[in-house]
Amino acid sequence: MTKILRGRVLSFTRQPDSADDHSAYTYIEDGAVLLSDGLIKTVGVFDDMPSGIEVIDHRPNLLMAGFIDTHNHFPQMQVIGSYGAQLLDWLNNYTFPAETQFADRTHADRIAVKYFDEMLRNGTTTPVAYCSVHAASADAYFSEAEKRNIRAIGGKVLMDRNAPEGLLDTPQSAYEDTKTLIEKWHEKGRALYAISPRFAITSTPVQLEMAQALVAENPTCYMQTHLSENHDEIAYTMSLYPEHPDYLGIYEHYGLLGSRALLGHCIHLSDRERSVMADTNSVAVFCPTSNLFIGSGLFNEERTRQDGVRIAVATDIGGGTSYSMLRTMDEAYKVCQLQNQNLPPLYAFYLMTLGNAKALGLEAEIGTLEAGSEADIVVLDASATPAMALRMETVTTLAEELFVLQTLGDDRSVVETYVAGVAAKP
Ligand code: GUN
Ligand code: ZN
Repeated sequence: MTKILRGRVLSFTRQPDSADDHSAYTYIEDGAVLLSDGLIKTVGVFDDMPSGIEVIDHRPNLLMAGFIDTHNHFPQMQVIGSYGAQLLDWLNNYTFPAETQFADRTHADRIAVKYFDEMLRNGTTTPVAYCSVHAASADAYFSEAEKRNIRAIGGKVLMDRNAPEGLLDTPQSAYEDTKTLIEKWHEKGRALYAISPRFAITSTPVQLEMAQALVAENPTCYMQTHLSENHDEIAYTMSLYPEHPDYLGIYEHYGLLGSRALLGHCIHLSDRERSVMADTNSVAVFCPTSNLFIGSGLFNEERTRQDGVRIAVATDIGGGTSYSMLRTMDEAYKVCQLQNQNLPPLYAFYLMTLGNAKALGLEAEIGTLEAGSEADIVVLDASATPAMALRMETVTTLAEELFVLQTLGDDRSVVETYVAGVAAKP
């Protein structure tokens, strides 16, 4: 299964420092990526490639590392576009009822197929998902990922209070179920497990102690939760955990922070919280379409970055409104604009690929087109629609082309998605 993809090859080598930091990436105009056994073997100029190997000609399109979506909710596909509510009402009125259905494995299996179809349609080759509270939903998620050989990360949520009966576990069952799921799925094929206490509101202190034990016992797993998304959420959280200095202080107390901790939203952080995030190497996950749609607020990208906090980007489906990381970064740009901050296209594309891979500690496996990386690749066409083609008539630089993709692009710009070297766009 050796083949060569021919096209314009773009791969980041580090975070761009400025809008025109052209030394942060490699770009090969008539480039080629030689794939074999699911891995990238060689990247270079097409004319330097060995002969006698099947060539798939993607010229004039761009070849990039597949996108990574570091926070979304697999059981919320039918929640997208739920009208007129901010976080706590949105959870209670729409999200929790939808997640209750995932007690039914048949339903979970059906949605898992749709979920990975949407990921791949949008060029996302690695998702990090919250499943529902039901262990079967995590089984459905990982089984479907395994069928498609996708490097997928996820976990069942831990929640033992402040939700409908059908969505509650107990500290003990959460511990047992998570332990079983880790044994079953973590590092099986390309799967990785994320221990997922949903957020402090839906976990009792005893359950957070169980999460702490799981994190301590499974240091190679991720830990994902939500932090400081909405003012009412923060006030409610602090009323449940009054002895802690702030929202992050709760997760800090229970030993949940660290380089494998992914904290969704991080919109209304205090100076102390940002400093603890930085000191513990925890990751702040910026979810722009969700933050705008649920009316949660504007993530302060510049401040978070300047304070030394690691940043990742994500759709947060179904609070988020698009499966596309291109659409996501379009909204990220606007969130920055509203705060008089810049989000250059080189940085946006870095974040979707190598930046998110680094946030997951997976930069040796995914996020770049480098020899030795897994062959998860997206092929992008910046002229995919008539409006894009018209705009592209005036474009002269790579950064401008990326910005057209980011501003006008969506799944129609994704020509193909390769998963471990196999064409997989549905
Ligand atoms: N906080 C706790 N659960 C959720 C969720 O499902 N979506 C969002 N956006 N925030 C949350
Ligand atoms: Zn979320």
